[in-house]
Amino acid sequence: MAMRLRTTIMFPALALFVTLLSLCLSPSNAQYKTPLFVFGDSLYDDGMTLYNGVKGAGAEYWPYGETYFKKPAGRYSDGRLIPDFIAQYAGLPFLQPYLLPGLKDYTKGINFASAGACVLVETRPSTINLKKQIDYFRQMVQKLKKQVGEAQANKLLSEAVYLFNIAGNDYVSLLEKHVKKLPVSNSKKKRQMNMILGNLTVHFKTIYNLGGRKFAFQNLGPLGCMPSMKYMLQYTGTCAPEPQELAKMHNTAFAALVKRLQPQLPGFKYSIYDFYTALYLRVLYGSRYGFRESQTACCGSGAYNGDFSCQKKGYTFSVCSNPNDHLWFDAAHPTDKANQAFSKEFWGGGSNLVAPYNLQNLFAAN
Ligand SMILES: *[C@@H]1O[C@H](CO)[C@@H](O)[C@H](O)[C@H]1NC(C)=O
Repeated sequence: MAMRLRTTIMFPALALFVTLLSLCLSPSNAQYKTPLFVFGDSLYDDGMTLYNGVKGAGAEYWPYGETYFKKPAGRYSDGRLIPDFIAQYAGLPFLQPYLLPGLKDYTKGINFASAGACVLVETRPSTINLKKQIDYFRQMVQKLKKQVGEAQANKLLSEAVYLFNIAGNDYVSLLEKHVKKLPVSNSKKKRQMNMILGNLTVHFKTIYNLGGRKFAFQNLGPLGCMPSMKYMLQYTGTCAPEPQELAKMHNTAFAALVKRLQPQLPGFKYSIYDFYTALYLRVLYGSRYGFRESQTACCGSGAYNGDFSCQKKGYTFSVCSNPNDHLWFDAAHPTDKANQAFSKEFWGGGSNLVAPYNLQNLFAAN
């Protein structure tokens, strides 16, 4: 009697356990979403710089994060960044930065972006430049293969979306270097641009050769409208013309480059979000987009709050009372509210904003 009772109770429990176990172990039953891999600079950094252990970097002080996370969250904003919103729209959790200690799950994607990152490796040697990010990605591919097996890893890598925001710092550095003798000569600009595009091509092909097919790019913003740029150039108009020209030159050449790459790389699909225009329109006509203040940063000091004093410990700076009124949170980075507006356009916008694919269609493509 006791024996029979035990088996009738035991059996369903055992069957359930075996079923659950096989669900967990069998890759063919696992349900994965399309992963998102992110590369870039501080506009996309969600903790790489913080975990890289450089003191005073990584948006580690208040008021970073104040609106959404209620504490500094390794992000250069009062809240979420574009990759945070995109991950959410794609049904993914916030992406883990690759340097997060104890990382084990690579199936949902990873964020490699890091503040200050450039394309050209000698420009800011102490940062996690794009080349290092790609090296980390290569390492990660091996770990992903260990996690889910070769076949499943290859499937995830080919379905994944690879999101980039990079090269702004390369041009900002070029202007910084020549700030006493502007304008920078055309030949210097062209040479710099061709090196940047050449290196980008190499990196895109590396990802392609590792199985990546779906690429998404945020083009360069209107660099001349950044409070930090106006502060550096002591410019008092709305947007300084020389950085604007540099960004436009890069964006035009970049779009042409990606278009040329496409037929060389079978299966390559892409999306370019016209961040330049999206941000420029909000600088010019802030109130139409719900921003009472679209030129002066919420946090900082100096003209337009163009000095990054809120990134540094022990500096005096001012902070606005309501970041949602502001387009810029600090001298170079939009607020949570602005990032949300950009993300909606990048995700679901029409071909005047994002083309040839928008992100929603790129995620769904196969
Ligand atoms: C990449 O950039 C370096 C400078 O950092 C340059 O010397 C090299 O020619 C570039 N590579 C390509 C393929 O353009």
